[in-house]
Amino acid sequence: MENRPVTLITGCSTGIGFETALFLARKGHRVFATMRNLEKAGPLREASKGLDLEAFPLDVDKPASVKKAVAAALKGAGRIDVLVNNAGWGAFGALEEFSDAEIQSQYETNVFGLLRVTREVLPLMRRQKRGRILHIGSLAGKMSFAGIGLYCSTKHAVEAATESLRLEARPFNIEVAVVEPGNIRTPFKTNRRIAKVLGEDGSAYRKPLEKVLRAGNNPPPSTPGPEKVAAVVWKALRAEPMACRYPVGTDAVWLPFLRRFMPDSLFDRVLRRRYEGFQGESA
Ligand SMILES: NC(=O)c1ccc[n+]([C@@H]2O[C@H](COP(=O)([O-])OP(=O)(O)OC[C@H]3O[C@@H](n4cnc5c(N)ncnc54)[C@H](OP(=O)(O)O)[C@@H]3O)[C@@H](O)[C@H]2O)c1
Repeated sequence: MENRPVTLITGCSTGIGFETALFLARKGHRVFATMRNLEKAGPLREASKGLDLEAFPLDVDKPASVKKAVAAALKGAGRIDVLVNNAGWGAFGALEEFSDAEIQSQYETNVFGLLRVTREVLPLMRRQKRGRILHIGSLAGKMSFAGIGLYCSTKHAVEAATESLRLEARPFNIEVAVVEPGNIRTPFKTNRRIAKVLGEDGSAYRKPLEKVLRAGNNPPPSTPGPEKVAAVVWKALRAEPMACRYPVGTDAVWLPFLRRFMPDSLFDRVLRRRYEGFQGESA
């Protein structure tokens, strides 16, 4: 049996998944780089010429697609050593104004999808008596902010799932961890789905949220790119044993740290000031 790790990654059409697939393939992994729309595979196929990287269809929202992709990887390589649950997107809007369908859709990908792929891969890893699973969580799994509360709640769920899975899977020699990127320069912001009410101009929260959105969509030039997350994934996969959490970026390290040691009253005041600032700034 070949010793090269066999790795399956979700959401590889752009951003963190794209860079992580390339990074691990360059480091000698056999990579199954999956994406829900294989028509987007051109740039990754071009960038990975000469590497052991294969693009597969996988939509984490669809149980049949998950089963098919995992079976195909197993057929191709005989095992899966590493799973990187990366697929995800961000809903934007006031929590009050999302419809049931919008809330379900956000949870479908970021939580149910992640658990669906994990549940498909875990039996294989248990049979192999080894494996590593990395969830791409977020700073938003440690702290919540106005406008992205729904997204934050899914990433908080990823944190909880990581801790439980980590304990449950350890006896089978399977390690589980969460990578927590802060602000990263990827198409994530442009791929955000705006709440219908906000998009149609019917939102009671429109003025401040549009400003929050604009600020979020224009990150400072110092914002790191997705290769920084890929390097941390690599670091986690080489660690013996793997830590539980891997923050990526200065914001992901320092903001939860400051939050932890700030009394609620002070933290609340800081955030309220910031939000009031958005209400007051000119459009
Ligand atoms: N960028 C940031 O600032 C940041 C910070 C913290 C955490 N993250 C997390 O990092 C992960 C990757 O995001 P990114 O920044 O690389 O953004 P991105 O460039 O928008 O990539 C998201 C990827 O997820 C895929 N995806 C969405 N829904 C899917 C589904 N149902 N099934 C399979 N794939 C699906 C997208 O595919 P399509 O091309 O088909 O849409 C795309 O490949 C996400 O989980 C995100 O929450 C990002």
